[in-house]
Amino acid sequence: MLFKPLFYNVNMKKIVINISMLFLAVMQLNNVTAQQKFIKQKVDSVLRLMTLDEKIGQLNQYNDDWRATGPITPDNNKIGQVKAGQLGSLLNCIGVSRTRSWQELAIQSRLKIPLLFGLDVIHGFNTTFPIPLAEACSWDLEATEQTARVAATEASASGIHWTFAPMVDIARDPRWGRVMEGAGEDPYLGSKIAAARVKGFQGNKLGDINSVMACAKHFAAYGAAIGGRDYNSVDMSERLLWEVYLPPFKATVDAGVATFMNSFNDINGVPATGNKMLQRDILKGKWNYKGFVVSDWGSVGEMINHGTAKNGYEAALSAITAGCDMDMESRSYKNNLAKLVEDGKVSVGLIDDAVKRILYKKFELGLFDNPFKYCNEQREKTELAKPEHAKLAREAGAKSIVLLKNQNNLLPLSRNLKSIAFIGPLVKALKQNKGSWDVEVPGIDSNFIVSQWEGLQNKVGANTKLLYAKGCEMEGNNKDGFAEAVEVAKQAEVIILSIGERREMSGEARNRSDITIPGVQEELLKSLLATGKPVVVLINAGRPLVFNYTSDNAPAILYTWWLGSEAGNAIADVLFGDFNPSAKLAMSFPINVGQIPIYYSHFNTGRPVTSSKVPNTSYIDISVDPKYEFGYGLSYTSFQYSNLQLSKKLMKMNEQVDVSVTITNTGKYDGEEIVQLYLRDKVGSIARPVKELKDFRKIFLKAGGSETVTFVIRKEKLSFYNQQLQWVAEPGDFQIMIGASSKDIRFMEDFELIR
Ligand code: BGC
Repeated sequence: MLFKPLFYNVNMKKIVINISMLFLAVMQLNNVTAQQKFIKQKVDSVLRLMTLDEKIGQLNQYNDDWRATGPITPDNNKIGQVKAGQLGSLLNCIGVSRTRSWQELAIQSRLKIPLLFGLDVIHGFNTTFPIPLAEACSWDLEATEQTARVAATEASASGIHWTFAPMVDIARDPRWGRVMEGAGEDPYLGSKIAAARVKGFQGNKLGDINSVMACAKHFAAYGAAIGGRDYNSVDMSERLLWEVYLPPFKATVDAGVATFMNSFNDINGVPATGNKMLQRDILKGKWNYKGFVVSDWGSVGEMINHGTAKNGYEAALSAITAGCDMDMESRSYKNNLAKLVEDGKVSVGLIDDAVKRILYKKFELGLFDNPFKYCNEQREKTELAKPEHAKLAREAGAKSIVLLKNQNNLLPLSRNLKSIAFIGPLVKALKQNKGSWDVEVPGIDSNFIVSQWEGLQNKVGANTKLLYAKGCEMEGNNKDGFAEAVEVAKQAEVIILSIGERREMSGEARNRSDITIPGVQEELLKSLLATGKPVVVLINAGRPLVFNYTSDNAPAILYTWWLGSEAGNAIADVLFGDFNPSAKLAMSFPINVGQIPIYYSHFNTGRPVTSSKVPNTSYIDISVDPKYEFGYGLSYTSFQYSNLQLSKKLMKMNEQVDVSVTITNTGKYDGEEIVQLYLRDKVGSIARPVKELKDFRKIFLKAGGSETVTFVIRKEKLSFYNQQLQWVAEPGDFQIMIGASSKDIRFMEDFELIR
C-alpha cells in the first residue's frame, strides 16, 4: 500500500487501488514533465551553439537520390551540405546501410546534429497490410493499431525514424485517387482510426527502439479538392472545416502525434502551406501543438504557381510565418531564409522556434545519444518478414473484405467442391495486391506476396480441381481470352472472377473521371454468367468503384480492395468461411459519378427527397441514394436487434442517457457485427445533418448468442459549431438511431435535452 486510505468502507480495496493509480499517474506525469524540461534544456544548449546557417539547415528536408515521390530538385552537393550541418532530414532513404552512410556524414559536421530519416510507411513496410481505406472498413481499432505497430517495428529496424502517416483527410469524392490512403468519409470513424494509427506507429513512447514518429497529413482539407482532382483548390466554409475536416487532425494531436504535414491545396484562396490560420492559429495556437510541421513535397515553392508568392523569397516568408517548420524538397528555405533574416522580414526568434521543435524530436528519439540507434543490421535481418507479421496481415486482410452481396447464401463455398474456375486478370497478379505506397527495401526480398491463386491453392484440398483462365486484361478492349475463360468456366462447379482497377489507378495524382471497372471486365462477367454457373466476383480497387452490371447480376460480391502481402490467403479464408466477413463500408459507393460528392450525413434541405410530389432535391434520372451506403456490409450470419432501451427521455446538460440494445446472432455461423449509433439534432439554430455517426461497437457473437450493447450519450455527442462557431449543445429534441448501416436503421427513438 502506498499510503493510508482516507477512509474505510466496503469498497476500501477499490479506493486504495484508485488512489494508488492516481498517485502513479501523477508520478508519471511529473517524470514526463521533468524529462521534457531536461530535453528543452539540451535543445537550448545546442541552439546556442548554432550559426544562422546551421539553424536554417535544420529546416530543410531533401529527397535521397534513391527513389522519388515527387519532382526532384537537382542538387550535386547534398553530401557537402550534410557534412556542413546544413540539412535536417532526408526522405526516401531506406535501409540500415543507406541510412547509416548518410548519418556518418552528418556526424562529421561541426555540431554533429543527426539527420532524421522520413518515409511514407502508409500501410506497412516490408509486410504490406491492406490499404488504409480497406482497413478502415474493419472498424477494428485494435487491429488498426497493431498493423501500424508492426509497420513501425519493421521500418525502425530498417533505419526509418519517421513515417508520413497517418493520412487523415476526410474524403467524399471517389474520383480522387488518394481516397485509398485515408479512412473514408466520416469524421467520427476517421478520428478514431487516426488516433489508433498514431498510437500504433509511435508505440509506448518516442525513443523506444521500435517506435517511429507519426505525421498527421495533409493539413488541411486536402480531401475536398474540387472535382476530385488531386492538388486542386478547396472552397469551404469554416464550419465544414471544423466539423468534418479538422476532427481527425485534432484526434491525432490528442493521441500525441509527433509531426504534421501541411498540404498542396489552397483553402478559400490561401495555400495550406502558407496558411497562418491553420498552422499558427489553430494547430500551434488553439491546440497548443508542440511538434513540428513539415511542408508537403515542394509545396513551399509551389506557392509561386498558386500565385500567392512572386518568387522563392516570398514563398519562404509566407510559409515560415504561417508556421511551416520544415521545407520538403523545395529549397525555398535554404535559398531565402538567411536573406529574409538579413532584411528583417523574418526574426531569428521565428527560425529558432522551428529549429527547437525539430531538435526536440531528435533528442526524444535518442539520436543525439546514438545517431545510429536505428541502424542495426541484425535487427534489420530479424525484424522484417517475421511469420507473425504475415499472420497479422492475413487477419487484417480478412477483416477488410466487405461482403456486398450473397444471393441464396452462395458463400461461403463448400470444401467439397469438385472443381472451381478461378478467372480474371488479377488471379495470378502479385504486386497488384499491394496497392499504392508499398515499400521495397533494398537488399531485402520484399516480394513475398501471396497471390489469389496461391491463396486458393493453399486452401482447397486435393479433391478440388482448380482451373484458371485470365480472360482479359484490366484495361483495353481485347476479348480474345473470353472463349477460353468460358470453356474453363463450363468445366467447373463454381466460378470465382477477380476483377478491378490496376493499383496504378488509385493513389496520388491518380484521379479518374470515370470510376467504372475499366476495360471489358464486366463483359467478361456477362459471358461467364451466361454459362449458368454460380459466379462469385472479387473486386480489387483503391476506391469505391461503379459496377452496376456486376451489382445487379452477380450472385455474390466481395469487395477485396488491395489487401497486401497476404491477399490470397485472406481472400481464401473469407471465400471458404474460415473467416466470416464483418467489414462495413467507410465510404458511400455511388451509382454513378453524377452523384458525387456523396455522403450519408447530408442536410435534409427545405425540399427533401421524401416529398416526392413536389419539386425536390432529387435527380430526375437516378436515385439520390448510393448503391451501397456508408456502414453497409453483410455477414454469413444474420443479426437481430431487439430491446432498445433509453435510460431517460429527458436529459439535463450535465447528465447522460444510456442507450442499450440487444444483438442476437440468429444465423448458423459465429460472426462479428458492427453496431452503429447515429444521432440527429431535430431542430437546431442552424441546419443539422439527417444523421451523424456518434459511436459504434464491434462485437463477436457465437451462432445463437446474444449481447446487450450500451452506448453513453453525453452533451459532447450532441454538440456542434453554431453560427458563431462556438461548440454548443442546444436544448431540444434529438433522435437516436441504432443500425447495422447508415441506412439499415433498426431502431429510432427521441429524447429531449433540457437545461
Ligand atoms: C505526398 C505526401 C508524401 C510526400 C513524400 C507528397 O507528394 O503528398 O503525402 O508524404 O510526397 O513522399
